Amino acid sequence: MQLLLIGFGTVGQGLAELLIEKEGTLRDEHGLEVQVVGIADMLKGSIYDAGGIDLKAALKAAKADKKLTELKGGFDGDALAMIKQANADMMVEATYTDIKTGEPATSHIKAAFEKGMHVTTTNKGPLALFYPELAKLAEEKGVKFYFEGTVMSGTPVLNLIRETLAGCHISEVKGILNGTTNYMLSQMEEGAAYDDVLKTAQELGYAEAVPDADVLGWDALAKVTILANTVFGVNAKPDDFPCKGITEITPDAIADAKSRGKRFKLIGKVWRDGDSVKGSVGTEEVDLTHPLAGVMGATNAMTISTDILGDVTIVGAGAGRAETGYSALIDIIRAGGKR
Ligand code: HSE
Repeated sequence: MQLLLIGFGTVGQGLAELLIEKEGTLRDEHGLEVQVVGIADMLKGSIYDAGGIDLKAALKAAKADKKLTELKGGFDGDALAMIKQANADMMVEATYTDIKTGEPATSHIKAAFEKGMHVTTTNKGPLALFYPELAKLAEEKGVKFYFEGTVMSGTPVLNLIRETLAGCHISEVKGILNGTTNYMLSQMEEGAAYDDVLKTAQELGYAEAVPDADVLGWDALAKVTILANTVFGVNAKPDDFPCKGITEITPDAIADAKSRGKRFKLIGKVWRDGDSVKGSVGTEEVDLTHPLAGVMGATNAMTISTDILGDVTIVGAGAGRAETGYSALIDIIRAGGKR
C-alpha cells in the first residue's frame, strides 16, 4: 500500500514511527507492505518519491527543524498539488483541525477521493462540518473513508460502535472526550496552576494547535458532532449544540467539589430524545464513586448505552503522538490488510 501523509506534526510523525516499528507485524500478520511515497506539511515542507521515502530521514529532519524539501525528493508545491500529482492508494490527512471552516483538510479529502484514494483522517473539522457530503462522495468514488482518530484518538471507539456493537440500538453516548482538559483538571486538583498545566499539555502533544479549542470545549464539541453524525445518522453542525469549557473552573472550585465527594469533568454527550438527537458539552460535578470520576490525565472514556447490553464503557488514550498515530494505523490495516 502506497501512502501519502498530509500533515507531519505530532500525528503524522507518530504514525511514521509506528510504520517503522510495526513493519514486521504489518507484513507478517496483515500481508501489508506499506510505503510512504509523499509527505506534505505546511511548515516543514514536502517530499515526494514514487519509489518510497526514507521515513527515518524524514523523521530526523523534522525533529531537527530542517525542511523536508531539502531531502532527496524535495517537492516544491503545497499539499493539494501533491495529492493531484501523486499516485497513492491511501491518504492520511493529519493536518491541524480548523473547526470553523474544516479547511484545508476538506479540500485535501475531496481531492484524494477524486484521485480514487482511500482516506483516513484525524482531522475533526471535515467530519464535524461536512460528514454526509464526504461520505457520499467516497461512496460514489468507491473508496474507503475512515476517521477512527477523530474521537478518543487510537482508542477504537468508532470501530467498536460500528462493527463490534453492530445490531445494538444506541440511545446515548457520553464521556470524557478531551484529553487536554481532563489532564488539566487532574493536575489542578494536585495543586498545579492553570497556565502551567496548559503549557505541559501542549508540550506533551495533547493540546490543539490553538489550545482555546480544548479549554473552551470546541474540541469536545467537534467530537460530539462527529458522534451525532456518524453514530446517530443526523446532519448536525457544531453550532447546534450548547458548549461550555473549563475556563471558569478554579482550583478553589475543584477543592470545594472534592470536599463534597465530587469531581469536575468536561462531559460530552449525544442522546436520543424521542425522534430528535441532542448533544451537549459542559463541565459536570461527577460523583467520586462514578466510573468516569476515576478517569484521570489525558485518558478518555465513553459509556455507550445500548438496548441489548445495557451500558458498555471504554476507557483509553484520548490524545498523544503514538496514540493518535495508531488510529491511522488501524484504518490503514482496515483498508488494505488481511485481517
Ligand atoms: N486536543 C485533543 C485532546 C487531541 O486533548 O483531546 C485529541 O483529539
